[in-house]
Amino acid sequence: MAVNRVPLLAGNWKMNLDHLQAIAFVQKLAWTLKDASHDFDAAEVAVFPPFTDLRSVQTLVAADKLSIAFGAQDLSMHDSGAYTGEISGAFLAQLDCTYVIIGHSERRTLHAEDDTVVAAKTAAAVKHGLVPVVCVGETAEDLEKHGPSAVPVAQLRTALEGLDAGADIVVAYEPVWAIGSGQAATPDQAEQVAAALRDVVREILGDEAATRTRILYGGSVKSSNIAGFMREPNVDGALIGGASLDVNEFSSIVRFQKHVGV
Ligand code: PGA
Repeated sequence: MAVNRVPLLAGNWKMNLDHLQAIAFVQKLAWTLKDASHDFDAAEVAVFPPFTDLRSVQTLVAADKLSIAFGAQDLSMHDSGAYTGEISGAFLAQLDCTYVIIGHSERRTLHAEDDTVVAAKTAAAVKHGLVPVVCVGETAEDLEKHGPSAVPVAQLRTALEGLDAGADIVVAYEPVWAIGSGQAATPDQAEQVAAALRDVVREILGDEAATRTRILYGGSVKSSNIAGFMREPNVDGALIGGASLDVNEFSSIVRFQKHVGV
């Protein structure tokens, strides 16, 4: 983690927690972090609930003036119209979402989202003032055939192609083989790919954006392994799935600076 970038610890809830559970969870998360005197300026915290929870989370965050950011797990590439079941970035912006996850491997695999769709969604997010958290990562087969960086680098290049220089984005490197498997990448592997991804950001969005952009690692992150990732110069946080659904475990990940001497 470089000193000039505020790390981002982002909880991807996937299809878990309804809107009532979301309220209870975010309240408990806020209390736990407050009790621990968490410094939100030193490590940003974001949650990514299902669409149906967002209005409740927005209301809670606004009413209690919480420093927890939130975002959606997907959005439509379109602004409005006859797209049954889709959600516009304009609606997410109205709900005060800061972020939106784009191209998560589960969307790519289970919903056939290819790099062109991911690029269109990334552009839609930026257009609506949302910060896209662009997910890239190789499968075990890609890893064997092409090594760790080739596929994520190609995915990111396509995703960013339509953006203007200086666009505000977050990148999440999530090796598909590490997601939900309990088998995280090593900090070294994450650093190697994160450095290659930063070069892509530099090439397409420019030097300033490359210096500012947070590159997260995701895939079986826990409180017991976050420290190793956060010591790497190009890893600026984590996208956390399973472990983000347990308030104590997620809080412990968020508070990595207290239990790891980075
Ligand atoms: P995991 O999921 O932390 O459960 O491996 C990460 C993700 O899918 O973003």
